[in-house]
Amino acid sequence: MRKQVDPIIDRYRGDRTAIVAILHEINAAFRYLPREALERVSEQLSIPLSHLYSAATFYRSFDLEPCGEHEIQVCLGTACHVRGSELILDALSRRLGIKPGETTADSKYTLKRVNCLGACALGPLVSIDRDYHGHLTAHQAERLLEAYEDEDA
Ligand code: FES
Repeated sequence: MRKQVDPIIDRYRGDRTAIVAILHEINAAFRYLPREALERVSEQLSIPLSHLYSAATFYRSFDLEPCGEHEIQVCLGTACHVRGSELILDALSRRLGIKPGETTADSKYTLKRVNCLGACALGPLVSIDRDYHGHLTAHQAERLLEAYEDEDA
């Protein structure tokens, strides 16, 4: 753990104000924020662990549980919701057999509901591994997921 976390901390040269950037890098490296990694940051930068957890829970982009290989975010912000994104979320949830916030048993997919992906004109919007797919129907979203499943097969 130290081998992976220390270089990230070092890149910011002990800058305590770079906490969010450090946490982003750790989240990207592990696909979540492992407790041991947060303890190391706390120890190295003399920041209470509770402060790190506050930051980790304040920003929705952080994960405290391991994520799947593919992160699917379905936007349920107003602009997407009025265009049917709830139906997309239901369809993907059914197909994957998991609820929003969960990861499939094979650790391939994590399904998340988010409040706005910042591209409302494209709604209803789904992001998979940070690639945006706009103007989707539930059926198209399922086909899109199938393409990822085929790629992984
Ligand atoms: S409401 Fe969906 S991107 Fe903004």
